[in-house]
Amino acid sequence: MARKIILDCDPGHDDAIAMLLAHGNPDVELVAVTTVVGNQTLAKVTRNALSVARIADITGVPFAAGCPRPLVRTIETAPEIHGESGIDGPAMPEPTLDLDPRHAVDLIIDTVMAHEPGEITIVPTAGLTNIALAVRKEPRIAERVREVVLMGGGYHTGNWSAVAEFNIKIDPEAAHIVFNAGWPVTMVGLDLTHQALATPEVTRRIAEVGTRPAVFVNELLDFFGAAYREAQGFEHPPVHDPCAVAYVIDPSVMTVRKAPVDIELTGTLTLGMTVADFRAPAPADCRTQVAVDLDHERFWDLVVDALERIGDVSA
Ligand code: RIB
Ligand code: CA
Repeated sequence: MARKIILDCDPGHDDAIAMLLAHGNPDVELVAVTTVVGNQTLAKVTRNALSVARIADITGVPFAAGCPRPLVRTIETAPEIHGESGIDGPAMPEPTLDLDPRHAVDLIIDTVMAHEPGEITIVPTAGLTNIALAVRKEPRIAERVREVVLMGGGYHTGNWSAVAEFNIKIDPEAAHIVFNAGWPVTMVGLDLTHQALATPEVTRRIAEVGTRPAVFVNELLDFFGAAYREAQGFEHPPVHDPCAVAYVIDPSVMTVRKAPVDIELTGTLTLGMTVADFRAPAPADCRTQVAVDLDHERFWDLVVDALERIGDVSA
């Protein structure tokens, strides 16, 4: 039985690849896609999500737009990594899919409440504003959601500050709500995703798929790679978001370690830090774990396989 997932995202080059992986892999079923301000404004990331849906021929899946700004703080976007459009590089087709009329928070709540407990996994790959408001508006989702597998944070690594990662730092109050809601949380943070490098061997394998979606992915990686070289000195870009989807598909693709994680909300230097407590033993009631080591080959096998399964699509 395919794992049913809600992808909450801010496309975003790596969010787009996460969406394609979820769409192409038979072991997960995209039951909803929601967007939130992050890499770019809500309008831009929502348009990008709908364009990616057209590129991959994703139909029959509701897409809903969510929060246009964080709970408390002002908007912080990432044009230096994702460009002014949020997905600079490839030519993006006009969206053809209409947005679901509901707010993303309501689509998330409705989807979880309409399924049996344990059926839905939420996969956030952006700031956690939508997820935080959903569990505040309908607390019952905390015991119905199977797990939250999020790309965000880092126990020894930061990118938006020395110690904080972008998805957490742009809305730390939302992250605090999500990490303390009581549902199981797997944090796929930078310690893991900085291993998911799109090397020339990876882009060669993707090019060999030879379809328009595969060409699109390599165009994404071209821009993303140049941006990461320029902004953060990476030789090859870390492709963060599909790592979270890959864990849902095949948990053996990475190792995880049980540890309580909480979010720094007041630190001058440490605001938005995901503080993981590795002191042994982890408390018996600990419901959070962090991703440690990635099976790089298996991960990219999943991405290439998903592209092969999507096949060619005339966007
Ligand atoms: O820090 C990386 C994360 O921030 C990724 O999800 C990227 O898409 C941005 O949202
Ligand atoms: Ca993202």
